[in-house]
Amino acid sequence: MYRLVFTQVLRRFDAEAVHHFTVSALALLARLPLLKRLLHRAFAPHDPALRVTAFGVHFPGPLGLAAGFDKDAACAEGIAALGFGHVEVGTITAHGQPGNPRPRLFRLVRERALINRMGFNNAGAAAAARRLRRTRGVPVVVGVNIGKTKVVPESEAVADYVTAAKELAPMADYLVVNVSSPNTPGLRNLQAVALLRPLLTAVKEVADSMPRRTPLLVKIAPDLADEDVDAVADLAVELGLDGIIATNTTIRHGGETGGLSGRPLKARSLEVLRRLRARVGDRLTLVSAGGVEDADDVWERLLAGATLVQGYTGWIYGGPLWASRIHRQLSRRVRRHGMTSIADAIGRSARD
Ligand SMILES: Cc1cc2nc3c(=O)[nH]c(=O)nc-3n(C[C@H](O)[C@H](O)[C@H](O)COP(=O)(O)O)c2cc1C
Repeated sequence: MYRLVFTQVLRRFDAEAVHHFTVSALALLARLPLLKRLLHRAFAPHDPALRVTAFGVHFPGPLGLAAGFDKDAACAEGIAALGFGHVEVGTITAHGQPGNPRPRLFRLVRERALINRMGFNNAGAAAAARRLRRTRGVPVVVGVNIGKTKVVPESEAVADYVTAAKELAPMADYLVVNVSSPNTPGLRNLQAVALLRPLLTAVKEVADSMPRRTPLLVKIAPDLADEDVDAVADLAVELGLDGIIATNTTIRHGGETGGLSGRPLKARSLEVLRRLRARVGDRLTLVSAGGVEDADDVWERLLAGATLVQGYTGWIYGGPLWASRIHRQLSRRVRRHGMTSIADAIGRSARD
């Protein structure tokens, strides 16, 4: 049904226009308490066997929505009501900014992929914090992903991230330092350990100063050389971070300028996850993103050592109830394997 709607209707409209329409619809849904609760009851993961705990936070299921969809923290409850176990909002920057000129989001339908060069369009940390402060009608785990304001030079990046972190850490179930988006000039240079160390140290100080310490993760690019993946992993362990999100979009493709997501990213994303697991074992929580399309993909990531899995492009092609469907399939799979909890699957293939 969704495939028909997608090919006959949605595809005919500009991808970003469809995106804004969907965000508005989900934000409206968030303001309709009864409908929101009904949908949440019908589609959110409720099977106790799907629950996972990571860095002290309880997730109703392992599959969440990756950053970049709800950039302004406008509709997390609506997204959770459709079946996601968590929602990562952002990337949010200290100061509001318009992002790159449009068009900046492109569908590659045959490849089940997207290319985007959005450039952190968002209303800024203070506006997002106001939205996140509103009480929630349905339970939703919200991660907050922060990035550098475009006009801020690299030499002032630490202070810029710290401003965003101070504003948003109080409202975040976990905080993510994004140094891996390809669409802010120079951002990915911050993945070099010499720059990353002072940045993560400063943001961690903010996260640790919260009444209930806010867990802190760093999100990395799939285009890092393997030794650089290891170096970031070692640094994250050394600094006492809670986890790593791998991966962001890739710039290794021949299409429009921007980051590629979806199916073509699957193999490298899994490879980075396996490398991270081999390096850090269970000392960090690993969150796997990139090319996740179905329950098989989620299961594979869990076996390879991810505690949480995120998707974005798979949802665009899979339809509104994509996450709900996958969680239901995972429930059945847990039972088929004679497990009492999906947590028993985490890292299984990494141990073999
Ligand atoms: C349109 C679009 C916008 C994105 N914006 C962000 C962003 O603002 N911050 C971020 O960390 N990742 C962003 N991402 C990357 C996703 O969070 C995710 O890491 C990546 O798309 C790989 O997952 P996927 O293959 O399931 O889409 C964006 C992805 C897409 C497709």
